[in-house]
Amino acid sequence: MPLLEINDLNVRYGEIVALRGVSFNVEEGQVVTLLGANGAGKSTTLRAISGLAKPASGDILFDGKSIAGLGPEAIVRMGISHVPEGRRVFPGLTVKENIMLGGSNRKASKAELSREADAMFDLFPDIRKFSGALGWTLSGGQLQMVAVARGLMAKPRLLLLDEPSLGLAPVIVQAVFRIITEIRLSTTVLLVEQNARMGLSVADQGYVLETGRIVLGGKPEDLWANEAIAAAYLGGHGKPAAGLAAH
Ligand SMILES: Nc1ncnc2c1ncn2[C@@H]1O[C@H](COP(=O)(O)OP(=O)(O)OP(=O)(O)O)[C@@H](O)[C@H]1O
Ligand SMILES: [Mg+2]
Repeated sequence: MPLLEINDLNVRYGEIVALRGVSFNVEEGQVVTLLGANGAGKSTTLRAISGLAKPASGDILFDGKSIAGLGPEAIVRMGISHVPEGRRVFPGLTVKENIMLGGSNRKASKAELSREADAMFDLFPDIRKFSGALGWTLSGGQLQMVAVARGLMAKPRLLLLDEPSLGLAPVIVQAVFRIITEIRLSTTVLLVEQNARMGLSVADQGYVLETGRIVLGGKPEDLWANEAIAAAYLGGHGKPAAGLAAH
């Protein structure tokens, strides 16, 4: 049984049809990457899974149970954590407090959350030095690390990551993707990326969304091998990003 099963999902924003008959699965332990141009429906797919967008029809099964139409709090408690687009970090809190907030869905004591947040800095050493500071100024990449660390504090079975590399310098993108290769050792990941090269470099399975429909899906090497698709969505020649292995 797949960990996540999406069947014939349709989502609308008023008159706008954002998703049309989207179906795909995420197997436990995998990284699945959703690719597609601006407005294709990538974020809407994640929002529907995490309960932020209500499906007009279709079903979403998590661990065999329907979660379509449940609220975001219920879905987080079931083990799905969503790191949305943009890097929302609360400026009135320390970096560590921001990270601890991600665990507020769990029945863990403050001391436990504090210990776990400290341990997060092993995965994200670049932000350790800001841990206790107020009035911090973080770079885009550092804010992204805080957001991902906060998502991980929920101890999710499924982590939804929306464009973690957006707007980051190439060296920081590499760092974020290195972290994804660590996360995948313990957590199933559904990743949204416009950077197809990076997105597929860590994926077991990839899907291409085009105006609300899935037009192609398969293993990264099969997606790269499809020349028309490679030219349209993957920036030309079928060559994965160097330096990062999928497993
Ligand atoms: N809150 C909203 N209200 C109305 N329409 C929306 C809303 N959010 C998204 N849409 C529309 O739904 C469609 C899918 O948007 P979505 O944000 O899912 O795309 P995306 O693939 O994540 O794009 P991007 O790469 O720009 O983040 C687009 O046509 C978009 O304009
Ligand atoms: Mg988006």
